[in-house]
Amino acid sequence: IEAALSGGPLTGRRIVVTSGPTHEPIDPVRYIANRSSGAQGTAIARALAGLGAEVVFVTGPARVPPPAGVQVVRVETAREMLEAVQAALPAEAAVFAAAVADWRVANAAGQKVKKDGSGKAPALEFAENTDILATVAQMGEGRPVLVIGFAAETHDVEAHARAKRARKACDWIVANDVSPGTGIMGGAENEVTLITGDGTETWPRLTKDEVAARLAARIARKLEAGA
Ligand code: CTP
Ligand code: CA
Repeated sequence: IEAALSGGPLTGRRIVVTSGPTHEPIDPVRYIANRSSGAQGTAIARALAGLGAEVVFVTGPARVPPPAGVQVVRVETAREMLEAVQAALPAEAAVFAAAVADWRVANAAGQKVKKDGSGKAPALEFAENTDILATVAQMGEGRPVLVIGFAAETHDVEAHARAKRARKACDWIVANDVSPGTGIMGGAENEVTLITGDGTETWPRLTKDEVAARLAARIARKLEAGA
């Protein structure tokens, strides 16, 4: 509200941001998760709100608290995240920073799975989750004019990111190397390559807040230019 009153460059623009991991249940007391802290998505939502945007922040169970000044929608699973994103549209831009689980447990149990005394472990079966970014990027009517995805890779970062941009049909991809040695996963810094229709930019190693500020400024410029 403060930012909206101050008349930032994104005032009146609605932007959906996904963030954090998802949790995919095995049974009522167990789940499969990933190491995403939600730090980068949270920083992006905060930076966009700081420029005056009306941010809908769809977040999985993250380690960092959501920013102030955004509409927070808490979800647990990838399916819930997809529904929440669809409910938040239409929007002018959408930023998909969440580390969505690629698979859910297809044979999740309604009751706690018990050891049966045989010494044999239960077998989990998996089903692929719908790609939320690709679904939104490939919407016909009502597609946000600017759809931004992330590509967390451990090798051949730029090639994989370019392929992802093409496959999903999003406008921009923010790619990063999340190999264990980089300290990016769970750390305060990020080193990203921004891939747009106009080319590729590699940014220096920055704090996640600085990456967020740069990206938010780029989004503002693009929307001002009519995306
Ligand atoms: N993404 C999504 N929904 C999914 C999977 C991914 O919205 N079910 C989004 C992520 O939020 C991110 C982008 O897609 O913006 C790329 O995610 P990533 O995991 O890097 O790509 P995948 O397509 O899942 O490919 P892989 O994990 O096999 O590299
Ligand atoms: Ca994935």
